[in-house]
Amino acid sequence: MDFLSVSGNTKLNGTIEVSGAKNSALPLITSTILAKNLVNISNIPNVVDIRTLLKLLKNLGSEFEFNNNLLKIDSSKIHHTKANYEIIKTMRASILVLGPLLARFRKCEVSLPGGCAIGERPVDLHIKALKQMGAEIDIRGGYIVAEAKKGLKGCEIVFDKITVTGSENIIMAAALSKGNTKIINIAKEPEVIQLCNVLQNAGVDINGIGTDEITIYGTSGELVEFSEIEVIPDRIEAGTYLCAGAITNSNLTLKKVNSSHLSAVLSKLKEMGFGIIENENEIKLIEARKINPVEIITSEYPAFPTDMQAQFMALATQAEGTSIIEERLFENRFMHTSELRRLGASIKTNGKVATIDGGNKLIGAEVMATDLRASSALVLAGLVADGVTDIHRIYHLDRGYEKLEDKLSSIGAKITRGKK
Ligand code: EPZ
Repeated sequence: MDFLSVSGNTKLNGTIEVSGAKNSALPLITSTILAKNLVNISNIPNVVDIRTLLKLLKNLGSEFEFNNNLLKIDSSKIHHTKANYEIIKTMRASILVLGPLLARFRKCEVSLPGGCAIGERPVDLHIKALKQMGAEIDIRGGYIVAEAKKGLKGCEIVFDKITVTGSENIIMAAALSKGNTKIINIAKEPEVIQLCNVLQNAGVDINGIGTDEITIYGTSGELVEFSEIEVIPDRIEAGTYLCAGAITNSNLTLKKVNSSHLSAVLSKLKEMGFGIIENENEIKLIEARKINPVEIITSEYPAFPTDMQAQFMALATQAEGTSIIEERLFENRFMHTSELRRLGASIKTNGKVATIDGGNKLIGAEVMATDLRASSALVLAGLVADGVTDIHRIYHLDRGYEKLEDKLSSIGAKITRGKK
């Protein structure tokens, strides 16, 4: 199994180019199930989650070429509507085939995604909304078995909780439904907005994009003609690299980034004493005279993203004072605290609240990644710890970060990949 060796006491300097957003590329890929034409999608990050989803689409009958971050995919000839457990168990976002398959073929079987380290990750809200649109849905043998003999029908849907992939599944289902679907309490993440914009460019009439209430006028089963797509920059990858600059108290420039997607993160970095200069598609981080402690509550976009919580916990270990982080979205997203403690961090957790006493010098050690964002937090901690930190189970990291060690090495990090 691969592991990363990170040497500490690092100072970074230079420029990093941000890749396309994994969490935008995933629904955009499944949305091609609604397309009548071959679709070109550029700026797709070459990461494990993307390759896994493409394997699933291929099993369903999609044809594609994926080279140099450009995907040419034709899903018009899909002939299969069963998404097997084998693939879905490794990448729960595969649930994003449910809405489009049901809308187009009026029936499908999609394995229930398992939970993961950060939480139970239910999909009850996806299922409830599709039932409201006329689907008959049973859970049989670990599969969501869905059928809509007369096709899905638009209706008014109010999400009890804001769900990103739940919103995306229903947006795609509504695009091909009969009549209008009004979705209230919809997620407003940039990745959800890009999906709406892409479908609107394909001729689906959508009102209210970017607000928490949208109306979609379905095509009654008519496939749509997609234009070229360029995936938006990955705001979480960008935030992770800003934290790499911050934790080593370095000056850093990010390119190919959309700073308007990072307002909550940039605001917290300023609170901690860092300078931020935002230009067209660029963000400059300026080192802090003193790193201040911070209080963070994770919530839905545009508030502070849960996917940046672990990275800021690592950063908070370097603050002069006590930081508080409250994780409001997932029930078990503090797995990285025990690994950070192995490096000497002083962190106490009580339910959903973590208290981090900064100022301890971290000491390199062997640590274990537990989930995608926790693994990046351990890399960040390794950059400042004394000595070498070996991070195991980095298959978690490879799911969502493209060329992480190359990008960090290019700005001065000493980080190598080994095999055990
Ligand atoms: C998306 O997951 C992201 N994944 C996650 O990023 C991200 O952490 C999460 O949104 C929150 O922002 C992708 O976009 C592929 P949710 P998703 O449905 O859609 C509850 C990463 O690091 N819920 O918005 O699965 C759920 O338990 C990943 O890239 C229900 O109760 O998250 C959670 O508490 C990790 N019932 C809350 O809603 C449902 O049917 C938000 O979950 C659905 C969700």
